[in-house]
This record gives sequence, C-alpha cells and structure tokens, in this order.
Amino acid sequence: MNFTLSEEHEMIRKMVRDFAQNEVAPTAAERDEEERFDRDIIDKMAELGLMGIPWPEEYGGIGSDYLAYCIAVEELARVCASTAVTLSAHTSLAGWPLYKFGTESQKQKYLKPMALGEKIGAYGLTEPGSGSDAGAMKTTAKLEGDHYVLNGSKIFITNGGIADIYVVFALTDPAAKQKGTTAFIVEKEAPGFSIGKKEKKLGIRSSPTTEIIFQDCQIPKENVLGKVGEGFKIAMMTLDGGRNGIAAQAVGIAQGALDAAVAYAKQRHQFGKPIAAQQGISFKLADMATSIEAARLLTYQAAWRESEGLTYGKESAMSKLFAGDTAMKVTTEAVQVFGGYGYTKDYPVERFMRDAKITQIYEGTQEIQRLVISRML
Ligand code: CAA
Repeated sequence: MNFTLSEEHEMIRKMVRDFAQNEVAPTAAERDEEERFDRDIIDKMAELGLMGIPWPEEYGGIGSDYLAYCIAVEELARVCASTAVTLSAHTSLAGWPLYKFGTESQKQKYLKPMALGEKIGAYGLTEPGSGSDAGAMKTTAKLEGDHYVLNGSKIFITNGGIADIYVVFALTDPAAKQKGTTAFIVEKEAPGFSIGKKEKKLGIRSSPTTEIIFQDCQIPKENVLGKVGEGFKIAMMTLDGGRNGIAAQAVGIAQGALDAAVAYAKQRHQFGKPIAAQQGISFKLADMATSIEAARLLTYQAAWRESEGLTYGKESAMSKLFAGDTAMKVTTEAVQVFGGYGYTKDYPVERFMRDAKITQIYEGTQEIQRLVISRML
C-alpha cells in the first residue's frame, strides 16, 4: 500500500488550493449572503482545466483521474462549498453519464464543451413526489416521429438555470417503472423546457437550485443517452460516483472549519492562556482532525477504486455517509470553539455549518446510503 499522493495529485491540490484562496475565498461570504452565483469563477476554473478533470483530452478534459477530481472538489469546499458542488454536479452527475454512455457524437457535442467549461452540466432525477424513491418518478417521454415529447417536472436541480445541458430521466414506458425509464440529454434551448422556482436555501446559497419544467418539451431522438429503458440503471450508476464527489465536498467543508477553529483557538485567550491550551478545546480539535482524516481516507479510497476500474458503489456510499456526518459534526464543534463569535457572520464557521447539512441530504440521504450499503453486505 502507498498512501502518498502522486506528484500530479499534489500539483493539482496546490493549484486548486491557491486558486481557491485567491479567487474563490474572498467573495464566498458575500455570495452566500446575496445568494449569488458567479460565472467568472467558473470561467477561471475552466482556464485551469478544472471543468473536465477526469475526461480524456480528446473530449476536452485534462486526462487525469477521479482522485484528482475529488482533491479539487475538496480544496474548493474548504473555502466555498457552493463552488465545489457546482463542479461536482457538472462533472459527476452530468459529465460522467455522457462519458460512459454517450455516443461519440454526443461526447463531441456535449461532453467536450462541458469539459472545456464553455457549457455547464446538470442532472435531473428528483421530482416533487419522488426523492428517496427515485423509481416513483412521473415525468414521461413519448416518442412522436423523430422526437420524444417530455412532460413533467424535476426539482432540487443543482446548477438549475446556469446549466446549458441537463441529463434527465423520464418514463418511456410508465407501466414498466424502473425498467421503463430512459435517460435524455436536454439542451436549455429545447422547445418546452423552462426553469421554474429557484429555492431559497439554508446553505450552499451561491449554488443555484431550481425546478426544471417540461411542457411538451421536444427532444430529438438522437438525444437518448444509453439505451431506451436503461435510464434507471444509468441514474443509479451515476450516483455511485457522484456520492463520492459529495464526500469530497464534505471533507473540504470540515477541513475549512477545522482550520478556522485551530487558528482561532490559538489566538483566543481565556483564563490566562489560549483556549487551544485548554483540554476542553484541544481534545475537541483532536477528535475533529481524526474524523476528517478517516473521512478523507474513505473518500480517496473510493476515488482510487473508480480510477482503477474496481467496484466502488458501496465504498462511495460509505464515504458519503461518513464524510457527511463528519462535516456536520465538525462544523458544529467549530462553531462551539468560537463560542458567541462563531454564531455571527464575522467568522466563516456558521456558513460551514449551514453548508455541511446538505451533504447529509443530497445525492441520497444518509438513510439511503445505509440502504445501499446494507444491501451489499
Ligand atoms: N448500479 C447499477 N444498477 C443498479 C444500481 C447501481 N448502483 N442500483 C440499482 N440498480 C438496478 C438494480 O439492479 C435493478 O435492476 P434489475 O431489476 O435489472 O436487477 C434496478 O436498478 C432497480 O433497482 P432497485 O430494485 O434497487 O430499485 P429501488 O426502486 O428499490 O431503488 C434506491 C433503489 C437505491 C433506493 C434508489 O431509489 C435510490 O438511490 N434512491 C435515492 C435517490 C437519490 O440519491 N437521489 C438524489 C438525486 S441527485 C441530487 O441529489 C441532486 C443534485 O443535483 C445534487
């Protein structure tokens, strides 16, 4: 076994860390407050090659792997969880199914501009009545001539409204449920496609989350992704990898909170010495650091397995479960270390705590991760 990162991974970490500190961190609090997405940040990420990390150069990527991608998500989340999830949904929820199931022409037409950062991707599975029970979706797609006509709506879509390309799932054979589900590539300009309600959220507030609506929405037949009837499996396989991206986001959020808590504990004096020198705080910091390290190892392991072509569904569910809970616990403790100051917007830890919560919910709640893991035992 070798736990040392390669030179390439270390280089990507350093590059993203510098970028995150210089270009993302300065406006993170303000974008959170104003619920504002900043396309300039994405354009700069594109210049660094971050919008297509795991994809081969022929598809506009930088030809690296899933570990490098997770490291990038982690480093962004360390300062801004919103920017991290924009990248995560774009890469693992939209890019991955295009890369794995797209035809050569679909990859050239959709994956390439996404990997180059010219276009942003999103994924549409959840509906008002089907969250954890993804197989209960109602959106339909009916073949009419050389087009499919989609009707229905999807909610809680990360990158909704800012994305150009949506990978969505709809019933082509409603009676067959999961086996009658098909994946489609929907361009934002498709007739009958529109953006609905924008959510006002507790956290990740500079990452837009919207409803997307299909009203007799016309999708050319050639925009079926994979085979007709295989959509549910594509959706599930996509989430297998996507969940590890969320684990990486959770590790980053937790690390950002720990960094802030350690720095504060060293300079804050009470009872005549720094609070870091008092066991009530130092033991807390030690526990936080230990949990983060365990979460990071699970996350890197799942990413490594995916890069090596090994199975990774169970490991991704485990990393997401453990890292999400770690992020929530660590950020809550970080606020505690800061005391009253931590509860204010003068310090970033309250934002980290609000941002952490979603990692226990999206891409499958913690309860769904346990269901996925236990089914594989
Ligand atoms: N890989 C390949 N195939 C899979 C699979 C996987 N990971 N998981 C299931 N399948 C296959 C099964 O083998 C089965 O196929 P066969 O009948 O041919 O054997 C078929 O899919 C149906 O599977 P299940 O019977 O297991 O289906 P289910 O209805 O019982 O549901 C579930 C399983 C795991 C609970 C699933 O509904 C699920 O993952 N729910 C959570 C959904 C979720 O994570 N939503 C998040 C949306 S994305 C998001 O958060 C928004 C964002 O933008 C960030």
